[in-house]
Formats: sequence, structure tokens, C-alpha cells
Amino acid sequence: MVWAGSSGRPTLLFAFDAFEEAIVTRFEIGDDEFLLDGKPFRIISGALHYFRVHPAQWRDRIRSARLMGLNTIETYVPWNVHEPRPGEFTETGPDGRFDLIAFLRIVEDEGMRAIVRPGPYICAEWDGGGLPGWLLRDRTIRPRSSDPRFLEPATRYLSWVLGLVAPLQVDRGGPVILVQVENEYGAYGDDPHYLQVLTDTTRGAGITVPLTTVDQPSSTMIRDGSLPGLHKTASFGSQSRERLALLRREQPTGPLMCSEFWCGWFDDWGAHHHTTSTAAAAAELDEILSAGASVNIYMFHGGTNFGFTNGANDKGTYHPIVTSYDYDAPLDEAGRPTEKFWAFRDVIAKYADVPDAASDEPRRSPAFDAALRPGPGLLESAGAVSAWVEHAELPSMDDAGRNGGFLAYRTQLTGPDRPGVLSFDDVRDRAVVFLDGVRLGVLSRELHERALTLPRSHGELLVLVEDQGRVDYGPRIGEHKGLIGPARLDGEPLLRWQTLDVDADRLAAQVDASPAATSTSASPRFHLAEFTLDSPADLFLDSAGWGKGNAWLNGFPLGRYWQAGPQRTLYVPAGATQAGSNRLVVLEVDTLVSASARFLPAPELGQTEF
Ligand code: GLA
Repeated sequence: MVWAGSSGRPTLLFAFDAFEEAIVTRFEIGDDEFLLDGKPFRIISGALHYFRVHPAQWRDRIRSARLMGLNTIETYVPWNVHEPRPGEFTETGPDGRFDLIAFLRIVEDEGMRAIVRPGPYICAEWDGGGLPGWLLRDRTIRPRSSDPRFLEPATRYLSWVLGLVAPLQVDRGGPVILVQVENEYGAYGDDPHYLQVLTDTTRGAGITVPLTTVDQPSSTMIRDGSLPGLHKTASFGSQSRERLALLRREQPTGPLMCSEFWCGWFDDWGAHHHTTSTAAAAAELDEILSAGASVNIYMFHGGTNFGFTNGANDKGTYHPIVTSYDYDAPLDEAGRPTEKFWAFRDVIAKYADVPDAASDEPRRSPAFDAALRPGPGLLESAGAVSAWVEHAELPSMDDAGRNGGFLAYRTQLTGPDRPGVLSFDDVRDRAVVFLDGVRLGVLSRELHERALTLPRSHGELLVLVEDQGRVDYGPRIGEHKGLIGPARLDGEPLLRWQTLDVDADRLAAQVDASPAATSTSASPRFHLAEFTLDSPADLFLDSAGWGKGNAWLNGFPLGRYWQAGPQRTLYVPAGATQAGSNRLVVLEVDTLVSASARFLPAPELGQTEF
């Protein structure tokens, strides 16, 4: 089997034995190994999330995984993508980009095995850890628990998604060898009944392959996160020998597995770009493999939090995740092998057959500038397709029926002509405040800002709020977004609000170049650029001349940009571009310094720590 590599990626040079031609009928937990039809099988897997990669590039990434020596691809499944509204399931996701089954078929087609981690909670730096926004509209529901108001929709989703996966299991001739129950549950709860219901639901949906759990390497977490009959695995990125020994103490028999070998890390807005030492990561991988353990490298290829899909952490301070999920992984965000790829491949080659591969010249992307022309104001666009809705009291975003992105609030202030202090109980997550159309400032959750002094206490108060990503880890998962009341002016409750739904994806698709005359330059506004390409190509869109906002190319949501950094370029997957004319839409919420869309030849993910 030989294929020609396009430039910048590894090329397979020699044929290698066909991968397990015979249909496998059994995948089992042995005394100290996994068994494939009774023979020892070591899983050397890499995480690759179909929902973070353009479908046109799935096959390329999977091939690269095989060239690094992996025999398995692991993916989570985000519940919020596949059930966008209660009871409304979609196999391919809202815009057809999230076809899990098509992805698993490609994995199979490329001769790889698959591990599926369907949640219901996945963490993964993904919006809400995969929990749909609609699920927790009732604030009293306890997520990831035996609360029937959580369990009923969670099991309904699991039954649905596992019903799709079941025919793709290895004992039915498909690629799936393992399915995970929950995700690091021991770091969150200790309710065995909850795990039992999920397990029963999984089996009830026809899943016959071994079931696993993953937990951080602490005895308590490993115990709380699993049940007898579920195979325990661990997640870590260092001290592999000690951590595998701990896992062995907690589970005396069966294969050792590090289900998440963290070979890099993710980035938060406003912090540095994380990288890890290739030599140290390769040495850890060597330790795992030399211990005879199986591994899933997290991530083999991180990809991108396209659109509004990033999650956030909040351990006292809110930290939203950036758009890039490069993760300093063996394949970078654009699918190009890094130094880690070759180092990991050398390590794997000590323990398993690895196809011969050679690197091509690094790819450079087209570099050019395109003029940005002003388009309509965000709120004018929103007002043209939606009406303001009245509320007796300040609603959260969730109460107002918006899940993610932006919501506008307004109220009429009737106080005296002197300054007043506007305050909220909480701001989730970023509020741009206007009084009579004049921008007064920003309240930022990251800075714990909840109050602002207004120059006078009368006029139309307008607040544009952005949900910067739902928390995906820890006790704050499931919280409401938007302005959290009560709102007060000089300590007195501010009642009677209106909200305007702002569906940025939908509005961006409708943008035309004629600016609405009513917008001021200080208000959030769409901008437009057009450019031509000879053929589809990966691009790196530079946001250095812009403030804060989002971008779309030919309707594809590239994600958020922000001068807070560290990320400076947005990855534009070739699959979103086209030969001929291309149309870029930019929504700038703050200040656009440069009315130009600049594309750079290579990514700029920002300053590293060292
Ligand atoms: C844990 C979670 C993953 C991910 C990593 C960090 O291991 O299980 O989903 O959040 O941390 O990237």
C-alpha cells in the first residue's frame, strides 16, 4: 500500500502487511493483556476528535496516525452536538460536520481500531463538557448524578448514540473495541448507582465490547469513578511508572492502560501558549510501553474549537479555552507532523511494527491581504430578524432561551441626572455596556467585574453579553450564562428588562456589504472581505489588527479571536475554502484597528512560557 503524500506530511514508502484481514469476533480483557480473538493485543491509540477536524481532513489525519505507529483512534462524542434540542437527535450535527459513524467507517477503512467515549459528560475542553445547554435550564438539577431529571435525558441520549455505535463493534466486523463509561467521574462524584445506570444503559443498547472508566491517578478517584465489571484505566502525563503501579494496586489483574497520556496541553485566553518537551514526552511514552501497558495519546491531533464550541475552567477564576486545540500534539492543528510525531514514532517502533514513512518539505500556506469592508451592525442585523422580548425581571441567557454566543439586554433607566452604580450578581461572561448608544465599558468575569459607574442614571441601558464557553470541569458545570440577577442601580433592583436574541452564525450568513446607516463605528459590527484562491488550501488568518470577535469563511465558523492572546492566527481548514471566490465575514465586538484581513504562511499560537 503506497500513497503519495502532499507536501508537509509524512509519506508511506513501503507496503506493509494487510491489517488483520479476517473478521475478528472477540475483544476481551485477559489476565494482563487485551485479547483479540484470544491473542494478546496492545492498544497504541491516539485521540482525534471528529468534531474538531473538518470532515474533508479526517482521512488524512487517520492515515498520519497509522504512520506514527498507532493501531487505534479514540474519540469522544459530544452530547450537545447530537441533541441540540430535547429529543431532537442528529447523526450528523446541525450543519452536517459531525457524522460520527462516517468517521468510524473511515477509521475502519484505514485499518485501525476505534475507542468510543460517548459521555454523557466528556470534559475535553468542550462547551459544557458536552452537556447540552437546554439540559440544565432548571437550576436545581444535579448534573452527573442519579437525579432522575438528569438520568432520564442522559440515558435516552446514550441509548440513541450507542444504538448507532453497536453495529460497528469488533464482534460485528466493525472497528470499535472499547467503550468508556462517563469520564473521570471520580474527580466529581461518588454515586455508584449513577454509574450502574449508565452501565446498564450501555449494555442495554447492545454494546458487547469491554467497558472502561478513566480516572486521574488517585486511589479515591479510581475507586469512586468505577464499578466492578468496568475496566479501570488512568489519565496522566508524567511519572508514568508510579502511576501505572498505583493503577495496578487498585486493579490487580487485567491490562494496564493509560487512557489519556497527556502529551501536551490546552491554552486559555490571556495566558501563554502551552508546549511540552518532546524528549520528556517521548520518555514518558517509552515508560508506559516498556511497562507493557496500552496507551491512548491525548491528543494525537487536537484540531480546533470551531465556532462557539470551546469550554472553560473555573477554579475560582474563569478561564475560557482558546479556539485552537493544537495541544502541542504530534500532529499540529493543521495536521502537520511535528517533532513529537517523529520522536513518538521512534519510541513506538521499539515495541510494534511501524510503517516506513519519510517527511516531506514543510508546507507553507498562501500569504496575502484582503481589504475588509464594513457591513451591518450586529444589533441592527439581529433586530431585523428577531423582536425584543419583555421580562419582568433580569433573565439569564438560558432563561431567555439562548444557548451560547451572544444575547442583548436593554432597560430604560429613569433615575436622576447624576452618576449611578450599575451592578449584577454575576456576569457570565463578558458584558459590553452602552448608555444611549455610547459605549461605557466592559464587565469581565475573568476579572471578577460585576459593577460599573454610569455617568447618569437615566437613558437606555444596553448590554451585549457573550457566553465565552461553558465550564467543562468541576462543580460549576451546568451553570447559567448571561447576566445573573438581581441587577441593581445604586443598590435598588432594576426590573423590567428586554432581551434580543443574537444568533451570530445565522446573522453572519446573511451579511451583505452595505453598512446600515444607523450603526456607529463603536458598536459591534460585521465586516466582509472577498479573495480568490487557485485551489483549496489551509490558511492562517491573522487577528493581530483586530480586537475581539468571531470569523466565518464561506459560512464555516472559524471561531473566536481576541487580542488577549496567546492565539493570534485562526486556522482555516482547506475543506472550508474553495477554488475561485471566497467570502470572509468578521464580527468585531470591540475595536478594529486594521481594516484588512491578513493571511500568514504559518500559524502563530503565541508566546510560550520558556
Ligand atoms: C482530562 C479529561 C479530558 C481533558 C484532559 C485535559 O483528562 O478527561 O477530557 O479535559 O483532562 O486536556
